[in-house]
Amino acid sequence: MAGTWEELVSKIKDRLDIVDVISEQVVLKKRGQSYWGLCPFHKDKNPSFCVTPHLGIYKCFSCGEAGDALKFIMKTRNIEFKDLIIELADRFGFEVPKSHSKSSGTKELKEQMLAATMVAAEFYNDLLLRNKDANAEIATKYLTKRGIGTDIIKKFHIGVAPKSYSTLYDELRKDFSNDVLEKAGLILKSEKSGYIDRFRNRVIIPIQNENGEFVAFGARALEKDQNPKYLNSSDSLIYNKSKLLYGLYTAKDAIRKEDSVILMEGYFDVISSQAHGIENCVASCGTSLTSDHVKLLSRYTKSRKIYLSFDTDSAGQKATTRGAEIIRDVFAGLGDIKQFDESYVSSDKDKYACEIRVIAPPEGKDPDEFVRSVGADAYKMYMENAPLFIDFRLEQILKQKDNYKTPQEKAQYIKSIIPVLSEIKNRIIRSEYIDMVAQTLSIDANAIKTELKIFERANLPQVDRIVKNVTKNKSILEKAQKNLLSVFLVPDSPLSFSQISEMMADVTFEDEILINVKSTIDKFACTVNNVKELIEHLYTEYIDNPDAQTVLSELTALSDVYRGLDEKDFGNVINETINKINRCKHAKETEHIKNMYKGISDDDPEALKIQIQLRDKIKKLRQSEKI
Ligand code: UTP
Ligand code: MN
Repeated sequence: MAGTWEELVSKIKDRLDIVDVISEQVVLKKRGQSYWGLCPFHKDKNPSFCVTPHLGIYKCFSCGEAGDALKFIMKTRNIEFKDLIIELADRFGFEVPKSHSKSSGTKELKEQMLAATMVAAEFYNDLLLRNKDANAEIATKYLTKRGIGTDIIKKFHIGVAPKSYSTLYDELRKDFSNDVLEKAGLILKSEKSGYIDRFRNRVIIPIQNENGEFVAFGARALEKDQNPKYLNSSDSLIYNKSKLLYGLYTAKDAIRKEDSVILMEGYFDVISSQAHGIENCVASCGTSLTSDHVKLLSRYTKSRKIYLSFDTDSAGQKATTRGAEIIRDVFAGLGDIKQFDESYVSSDKDKYACEIRVIAPPEGKDPDEFVRSVGADAYKMYMENAPLFIDFRLEQILKQKDNYKTPQEKAQYIKSIIPVLSEIKNRIIRSEYIDMVAQTLSIDANAIKTELKIFERANLPQVDRIVKNVTKNKSILEKAQKNLLSVFLVPDSPLSFSQISEMMADVTFEDEILINVKSTIDKFACTVNNVKELIEHLYTEYIDNPDAQTVLSELTALSDVYRGLDEKDFGNVINETINKINRCKHAKETEHIKNMYKGISDDDPEALKIQIQLRDKIKKLRQSEKI
């Protein structure tokens, strides 16, 4: 029996797991009770988007967008509440009360398209397996040459499309309308003769979505001069290639188990690798990697260990660099990207947002050819020893060193290394790398360090701009006090919480929220282990205090400026800020006393007292200005 609409809504709410729902769109990282990520509703550089599962809510501390799982889906998919409830009721198998049910045309069309695609996949597969078409023999020969036998054909539902114009159409038109077949991308309207099959004379590779439903096809040319080499289904109601990865359905258990995934370029790379026991691999379907692909993968790999295994030609190299950039963007702000191996540094506490490695066997083959000709074991060995992306990139650059000979060329060339080096936040590791580069190129390490400084200074204004935006229109004193408090929130700070506290022991804060935040920081500083934990505790503490949350976001943004300073510079910055605060305070008090003094007559007994106070203040102000 269907209950009321309200009952249905509440049943659905109970079923939805907000972390699962949001993870489909946002990469989340757990910190204590909450999950954090980059806000999907505004351009977020640091994670300000917080999901609190026990409350069932999300909130962006930067743009303010907040709500529950249903609101999140409605906003991100731009779907009406009623439609969403009906869709979810269908997914969970709940009955929709008659008063609210409506026959959804789109839903029906989608179902028809899915059914047609499945029947088409079976049809093509059957033609191949049962040798039912003249092309089947050619395709079988072709596949055999590629090392693909019956088992693999069955596992991946590989098929063959005949040469003739309407084999599939003739078969499917009995059960599906032209509209459905056309929308599913199976047939095309031809000018002369009505409808024709879209895929002809090709090996058919059916594409399954995460749930194993057939949604599209990649079709490999059977003949050498047949163009294009691969003909792919276009996007449709049931297929969005920028959000789907080929092979994921068969790879997902292995990806979870290995806690890592290999990204490849081609359908056959995935087919061959999976067939040879390298099961945690996927490929995009005739498009380059997108951030949605990466988000999709991050749902399956806790540690986000991603291997890039592209072709070793120059296009593959570019794809590797581009792919790594996309991965890094997706995980930006969720922690450091793993940039060095354990052998370099002995901290097992480091938690990384992601780890990118590159599998690039020197033989110059794509994974498909490599696995077949050299073997899966050799591939696995390359995988085990795959360099981190940063090492791979440096090596690529350093390999070209002999092309740059004149001092001018060399200088230009070194500039290309600087941005790579500047990504290494750990100073010890960084200096190791600088030495390595300097040695390899026979140049002075100090010259590289100077270039790095110049590069980083040039890249600072962006942060400054953010800070300016955050703090504009605020009084200098308030600004300075916020600056000072923000030093508690600097990631990888060279000073401990207690050292910082000690330095600012004499500073009193004036704004009520700042006083509150400072005392809360003091409270947590003794128990938390690092800045991340501190921030998380603070946000939890202020979950019901939007003003304090705003201040926290400001402080987090401000803290970015102090990142990467060494202990001495960090200490100097703190002292400078304290001095500035003192100067401002003295100036303010002086102003205040001056005003009092102005308003009092000389023969008032208080006048002398105020005069002395004023002189005292002015003296202090002069002193503080001298510092
Ligand atoms: P490649 O040209 O590297 O092909 O394209 P491949 O995978 O090695 O193919 P084989 O081994 O010659 O059969 C890599 C991927 O790029 C897409 C396909 O997804 C292909 O698997 N692609 C390539 C297309 O979509 N269309 C094309 O015409 C070519
Ligand atoms: Mn290939």
